[in-house]
Amino acid sequence: MNCRCVIACALLVGAAISGLGAQSAATLTIDVNQPKAPVSPTLYGLMTEEINYSYDGGLYAELIRNRTFRSDWSGILNWFLFEKGSASAKIAADDREGPSLALTHSVKLEVIKADAKSPAGLLNEGYWGIAVRPNTRYAGSFYAKSHSDAALPVTVALVADQSGQVLATATVPVTGTAWKQYKFELRSGAAAPSTENHFEITVDRPATLWLQLVSLFPPTYHDRPNGNRIDIMEKLAAMRPSFLRFPGGNYLEGDRIENRFDWKKMIGPLVDRPTHPTTWSYHSSDGMGLLEYLEWCEDLQMQPLLAVYGGYSLGGQAVKPGPDLESYVQDALDEIEYVTGGPDTKAGALRVRDGHPAPFALTYVEVGNEDEFDRQRTYDGRYAQFYKAIKAKYPKLQVIATMPVKGIAPDVVDDHYYKRESGMFEESKHYDKTDRNGPKIFVGEWATREGTPTPNFGAALGDAAFLTGLERNSDIVVMAAYAPLFVNVNPGGMQWSSDLIGYDASSSYGSPSYYTQVMFRSCLGDRTLTSSVSGGGDQFFYSATGSSNKVCLKLVNATSADQPITITLHGIGPARTANVGTLHGNTIWATNTIRDPKRIVPVSSKLNIKGEVTPYSVPAYSIQVMEIDLR
Ligand code: AHR
Repeated sequence: MNCRCVIACALLVGAAISGLGAQSAATLTIDVNQPKAPVSPTLYGLMTEEINYSYDGGLYAELIRNRTFRSDWSGILNWFLFEKGSASAKIAADDREGPSLALTHSVKLEVIKADAKSPAGLLNEGYWGIAVRPNTRYAGSFYAKSHSDAALPVTVALVADQSGQVLATATVPVTGTAWKQYKFELRSGAAAPSTENHFEITVDRPATLWLQLVSLFPPTYHDRPNGNRIDIMEKLAAMRPSFLRFPGGNYLEGDRIENRFDWKKMIGPLVDRPTHPTTWSYHSSDGMGLLEYLEWCEDLQMQPLLAVYGGYSLGGQAVKPGPDLESYVQDALDEIEYVTGGPDTKAGALRVRDGHPAPFALTYVEVGNEDEFDRQRTYDGRYAQFYKAIKAKYPKLQVIATMPVKGIAPDVVDDHYYKRESGMFEESKHYDKTDRNGPKIFVGEWATREGTPTPNFGAALGDAAFLTGLERNSDIVVMAAYAPLFVNVNPGGMQWSSDLIGYDASSSYGSPSYYTQVMFRSCLGDRTLTSSVSGGGDQFFYSATGSSNKVCLKLVNATSADQPITITLHGIGPARTANVGTLHGNTIWATNTIRDPKRIVPVSSKLNIKGEVTPYSVPAYSIQVMEIDLR
């Protein structure tokens, strides 16, 4: 060991020992009756886009994968020819036969030989299996036409992969040579819940059958047709989000202009939606269209935060401001009218046609996404053109810019943060000195990126530290949303790691970061309280907010040693009991998984506060939310 190494190693050992040792005591002083600044009532919300199989194979409850029979060199994706016993059949993509202008193709099934014991048809693998639960009703439909006018019995079934057991079945007579929609219902019996199942659609005689848009839904949240998975919606409801930013993110922009979120192609009956490729390497069924997003907002009492396509696509195409951009601006105005217009407006009437007579309240519209990536630097002009047109028709709308702009003062600017834990500790101070006379801030995407597929406890500590900074500055930071929200944890399901909620075909789980947000949102109030801290390490973070009847205290100890602290609550009055929620990990790598979803969950306890001064200790690696009732 040379001399330089001896010194360096001694320093390292010293640092490691001090990391393990006791934290210097902190003093936290809060004046319960001294509000400092308002807290935004919309601070906590959600951001969503089609990424990581967020909708298809995720929130959107459709069970059939590739229900519109797209194919490539390998054949029809996710569908397989099924010939039982002595049956003989073939399947092929047919580009000349389809039920609508949007779906001009189909699958052609030619059954050469089949009988009741030896049927033939197609099998769908679902999204990494199909969840079948006992005594459950599944609502299905398909479009079909046959080669003859005679009734052709078509059997649909949910079948267990391993045993071949038929878990639910129905037979639908397909009649005639014209395209028609057929509906059916499947009911499962007492079988144990499982995801190792597939869907079969078969015939028991020689025939030719064309099929398109084969769909199957389990029960959905609030029983919505074409609706959402119940378990995932319940997890979102527990976050009590105030808004939903949709539809992106990169998904809004598309790699190319023609692959953007083109809202007009994502409304109305599913058969009129052409589907489209996404920026995230897979194809979207577009079942989650504009109205479905809005109904999702309605179900969770969130306000929609509508991002409109701003004329820039990820591959680098930017529409020049001026006449070239006009049609995109008009599209955005029409989209806003679809959301907010009455039945007497052109686009509002479309929403009524689609089954939602009542308009939706809208406050925020965002123009584009991350336009700092536009190398041609056209955003100043594009934003101004959208801004003026939107304000002319909808003066009350707040128009969010995706980056600082020149020439026009945006109402709100959207900032994004994706960093490691230490980076988020730093960013917790980001807005402490922001000019209060400038635009308001929307942190439209943020996450501590450590852990895959979902964040680990170290990431939750980074998140919690960052959130204390947002709460402290929520007079200027009016809204914030973590991203990405979802990930399907099956192999190939993830395109972006560290996602808030993970799932497979049947179950879902919250990451430590998810529980951090549930806890932070559970106690917020309407004001920050005058407070100060001294002592304590640089990995101790806090926020003090409240209302006339409660104090909300967030304490984050991101170190491996307990943090002693004296909490002084001036004006707290008589003895109080605080409800304390604690999220704790044994290490920063500790995490939840689909198989072990509850390792790190909030634990409740009580703390007696006997007077203004409370000696306390924030446990190592822990995030705490204290709610003190002042009534
Ligand atoms: O959240 C994942 C991606 O990160 C979003 O689509 C994009 O806006 C950002 O770069």
